[in-house]
Amino acid sequence: MIEKIKQILAEVPALSVENEAQLEELRLKYLSKKGLVNQLMADFRNVAADQKREVGMRINELKDALQNRFKDLKAQLATGEEDHSGLDLTRTPYPISLGTRHPLSIVTKEIIDIFSRLGFSLADGPEVEDDWHVFGSMNFADDHPARDMQDTFFIESHPDVILRTHTSSVQSRVMETTQPPIRVICPGRVYRNEAISARAHCFFHQVEGLYIDKDVSFTDLKQVLLTFAREMFGADTRIRLRPSYFPFTEPSAEMDISCNICGDKGCSFCKHTGWVEILGCGMVDPAVLEANGIDSSVYKGYAFGMGVERITNLKYQVKDLRMFSENDIRFLDQFMAAH
Ligand code: PHE
Repeated sequence: MIEKIKQILAEVPALSVENEAQLEELRLKYLSKKGLVNQLMADFRNVAADQKREVGMRINELKDALQNRFKDLKAQLATGEEDHSGLDLTRTPYPISLGTRHPLSIVTKEIIDIFSRLGFSLADGPEVEDDWHVFGSMNFADDHPARDMQDTFFIESHPDVILRTHTSSVQSRVMETTQPPIRVICPGRVYRNEAISARAHCFFHQVEGLYIDKDVSFTDLKQVLLTFAREMFGADTRIRLRPSYFPFTEPSAEMDISCNICGDKGCSFCKHTGWVEILGCGMVDPAVLEANGIDSSVYKGYAFGMGVERITNLKYQVKDLRMFSENDIRFLDQFMAAH
């Protein structure tokens, strides 16, 4: 037995580990309850009386040596010396906390789900666009103020290359490649050259919709929007349409919903009117159909567009637009339950 202990003792200085797992393996093998040292202690009972003294000493010696070696190896791992194991010390510790969906993603998905149930399919397009798809094809006159540097981000060396200011550009791309019937929604990020504040940002998100077919009326538009409002904000939600102007629709309207924050009583969000505006809409101007290769004597259409931030504010009462893009975990974590 003494020989055996000596042999193990000789191996102790050479013991090495590369990571925590191996360190633990080493502890289990030698120093744990069922480890080698304890086994030797148990065998100690059977040692002949005249050898007990020496064997006892050797076991203690071995135990000390192992404990010291274990401490050294542990310290080495902690300081990272001799650590070639590829240990990632920046890795998130257990338990790994799951992320949450961004509130804008939650709401965009909800909008998409509602319109999908109404038969709309999804369309996608580039954020970096050309003047034609954002403005030209949408019936903006050459001197329309929306083309102004105030609103649009241009690329200096390429005046035709812009960041889209609305996702109507996707509608244009759909129309130029598809013949009616067309029924699409276009969610996506848009950019406008605005000073950043609690109420405005240089980018935000939209979902725009387009429906083109032979018999499309303003009544169809109104019914679809009413259904959307009720699905999104609750069955008692009321809507009202106010006349408005967009270059690409005629007639045009803006839609308000009954304020779901104060339930009509009047609050700062609805500016004490009981109504909040959530989208723009109208019948597609025949000039837009023609510009995009669709025969306006056969087809008609409606279109609408809403800001996702605004809908999200209404759902979750987020007071400052900047919170959506600051990535503050304390803000984002609150949407854990809303998936
Ligand atoms: N494109 C408009 C905007 O960005 C929204 C809109 C879309 C209005 C379709 C009417 C019809 O403000």
